[in-house]
Amino acid sequence: MDVTDQIRQTANIVEMASLYTTLRKRGSKHVGLCPFHSEKDGSFTVDEDKQLYHCFGCGAGGDIFTLVMEKEDLTFPESVKFLAEKYNIPLPEQKRRSPKEKKIEEDLFLACESAMAFFKKNLFNTKEGEEAMRYLSKRSIPEDVIQELKIGYALNSWDALLTSFQEKGLSTFILEKAGLILKRQNKEGHYDRFRGRIIFPIFNLTGKVVAFGGRTIIDDDPKYLNSPDTPIYTKGKILYGLHLTKQAIREKTFSILVEGYTDFVALYRNGFQNCVASLGTALTSEQMTAVARFAPRMMICYDGDIAGRKAAARAVSLSMEKGVQAKVFSLPEGSDPDSYLEEVGADRFKAEWKKSTPGLRFLVDYFSTGKKKQVPEEKSKIVRDVVEVLNRIPDAVTRSEYVKQACDLLSVDERTLCGLTKTEKQTKIPVTKKQVLFNAEKRLLQIFFADTGVAVETFKDLDLQYFDGLTSKPIFTVLAEFFQKGKNPDFGSLRDNLDPELLSLLSRVLMEGETGASCEEAQDCLRSIKTLAIEKKLKALGARINELERNGERDSIGPLLKERQAMTEELIAHTRTENTL
Ligand code: UTP
Ligand code: MN
Repeated sequence: MDVTDQIRQTANIVEMASLYTTLRKRGSKHVGLCPFHSEKDGSFTVDEDKQLYHCFGCGAGGDIFTLVMEKEDLTFPESVKFLAEKYNIPLPEQKRRSPKEKKIEEDLFLACESAMAFFKKNLFNTKEGEEAMRYLSKRSIPEDVIQELKIGYALNSWDALLTSFQEKGLSTFILEKAGLILKRQNKEGHYDRFRGRIIFPIFNLTGKVVAFGGRTIIDDDPKYLNSPDTPIYTKGKILYGLHLTKQAIREKTFSILVEGYTDFVALYRNGFQNCVASLGTALTSEQMTAVARFAPRMMICYDGDIAGRKAAARAVSLSMEKGVQAKVFSLPEGSDPDSYLEEVGADRFKAEWKKSTPGLRFLVDYFSTGKKKQVPEEKSKIVRDVVEVLNRIPDAVTRSEYVKQACDLLSVDERTLCGLTKTEKQTKIPVTKKQVLFNAEKRLLQIFFADTGVAVETFKDLDLQYFDGLTSKPIFTVLAEFFQKGKNPDFGSLRDNLDPELLSLLSRVLMEGETGASCEEAQDCLRSIKTLAIEKKLKALGARINELERNGERDSIGPLLKERQAMTEELIAHTRTENTL
């Protein structure tokens, strides 16, 4: 049994759904206010026996996996992980790495660990290190912080690290993979990546050193140099300092996001220990998710320049997407958190951040910069830029609240703004006329979901061609992939492969179904579907013949008439067997 099946057996959809809405038992079902749209009626229905849900108001529907995917904003594999953890089901080790890959990773961790020790020794025990120490003290980085952040120094030499590590027997292959040394161009051999730089080790969440950032103290270019991505380090996934500050972030219930190493250090040593740094690259959605785990709120404190405001706008937008409530602490032009703290001191810094701007307001200001609100075309651009961000907010209630606030801030009436945003009306899935299922299709779907055994048996020799032209064809096509492998279908995959309307139709049909199923009944349904298919083809053929007759193309008609004859016979034979059953 695979993990998804184990979860299906252990987890209970009523329990999960109750986390998102209050359910009351009504008959064999549980009903409540839909967690996917705002309503007063209670159209949201959960069927405990079938472990499915469907909202008769907005059309949302699925199983426990889609419920979690939607509500926790997760992908299908993430929802499996989420539920497995919740219900204590052991996960198979994901993406099994080969022993060779594992060995390389171990060696990389070791190389980084050794390099960190080497840089530390350079800082504390060499002549050159004294100069580096003076630089650090000039920048007001005290020794206890140096120790805590494990700051070091890379000697101004082409091969100090390389030579030392070769003596220790570390392979150049690993050192190069770790980004510590580089291949010489047009020549044999390697050279050190970091030279004449203060070294800031970068740690993963478990506290292992995985990469380095180096600040030049010899006026080299670039000012900061970082390790490249390696098998143990992906830039976009790690936030500097989080391993050290996650606890403080949790306790204070908010994080402070800065851009640079020195900004981090400045905040950290001034008592703001709930900070993290995004390190100059554009903040990624994975980084936002990483901090969101520890606190629901964030103070964005980027540089007071155009680049800083642009980066802050991006961070606000990501925060909204991830359900993090963000504020922006705007610094005076030309300041960064490091320089500003130095200038005004911790107390005034804190007093001023009380006046920080709520995320949405910051965005409106940001998008309005340099535009004339009284010019309709320019105003439209501002509004649309804001709306683009609002539309990424996954939670409908939060989104609609932000829309209200945006109306005030932008001086736009609510109807106009709602017309542009993902409102309930638009997310509401219209079950259009053509999306009807014949009774046989409906019942067949119900049977398949009620009894996997019957489904597997039926799909053994099922010709999907019979579903041609039927609304349910895409559903049966996806189901075939599962049942032919003897597996249970999951709504996660159905969701990835089907139009929302179809998925909604399916969850509604399943909700209406009776329990119990047999192979015979399934065959009955199939026969009806087959009849429908032949009738449909006959009709099409008839139309084609008429058309040819009208156009006087008598020669082409002959074969078609024959085909019609054969089909009619098949239909008669088919109906006969149906009647004898
Ligand atoms: P800043 O240039 O604002 O750095 O870049 P800073 O922290 O104020 O630098 P100091 O005070 O002069 O030492 C912010 C961050 O952008 C990344 C670094 O992570 C830096 O901390 N950066 C900057 C680079 O990666 N490379 C660079 O050349 C410059
Ligand atoms: Mn600075």
